[in-house]
Amino acid sequence: MTHPFPEPAATAALVARLRAAGCVFAEDEAAALLDAAGTPDELASMAVRRIGGEPLEQVIGWAAFDGIRVRVLPGVFVPRLRTTLLVRIAAASAARSVDSAATRIFDIGCGSGGIGAAVATRVPGVEVWAVDVDPDAVACARLNLPPERVLLGDLYAPLPDGLRAQVICANAPYVPTDAIALMPPEARDHEHRVALDGGPDGLTVQRRVIAGAGTRLVEGGSLLIETSRAQAALTAAAATAAGLIVTIHTDDDVEGTVVEARLA
Ligand SMILES: C[S@@+](CC[C@H](N)C(=O)[O-])C[C@H]1O[C@@H](n2cnc3c(N)ncnc32)[C@H](O)[C@@H]1O
Repeated sequence: MTHPFPEPAATAALVARLRAAGCVFAEDEAAALLDAAGTPDELASMAVRRIGGEPLEQVIGWAAFDGIRVRVLPGVFVPRLRTTLLVRIAAASAARSVDSAATRIFDIGCGSGGIGAAVATRVPGVEVWAVDVDPDAVACARLNLPPERVLLGDLYAPLPDGLRAQVICANAPYVPTDAIALMPPEARDHEHRVALDGGPDGLTVQRRVIAGAGTRLVEGGSLLIETSRAQAALTAAAATAAGLIVTIHTDDDVEGTVVEARLA
């Protein structure tokens, strides 16, 4: 469909401004901005935000993730392609155990809620509970998941007492504190620090996720933790030390690494 505005010359100028600002896919980004903007004024303000370095997904309000559109609000972590590996493993585990509406997953450190939303799309009927400590992330995830099951708080703390899941998904922050300065400005300046900072070795939050998993998984359930290739051995060792049975999954196509830790 042809957009009612702006004139072709103005579109070309927008592409040129985006390209000059360093946007590699300037034509695609201009098309996305045109599609998202309701008025010329809105388009102008979106263009200024994007040219100022805000991630495109935060500007247009959604990200393409695992075949679905996930709503994304300013400051909230933009779901990454690499995380589709965790989604696929979670969906396969959930599908194996889906024989009733009782199959449940937890999305801990849910951000936008993209993981939970993608798994629920792949495995209809699965019950998703999501938690984040960042109120902006919770507000965002409530747009992508049943809002009554998106909870604000620290890791497992806000979940109902005694509630257990077949699969716990955790893409918790895992960037070592010192490495945050080396991240692209789009992440460093526009995603909240709590979404990135994994502490001195990157594993501070992961270790707490692992420590709490035993009382939140059903027998035979799996904790899935996204990590980096370089940190996978450390993450795996932490899970092994907690008595979990560990498998490391990698996918070079999406550059994903996931540590699966099963409760015996
Ligand atoms: C790397 S982002 C990932 C977001 C989302 N899971 C995704 O894959 O797009 C990490 C998320 O964990 C959240 N987080 C950090 N520490 C947390 C904690 N102690 N309890 C709950 N959430 C936490 C952050 O607010 C952030 O939304």
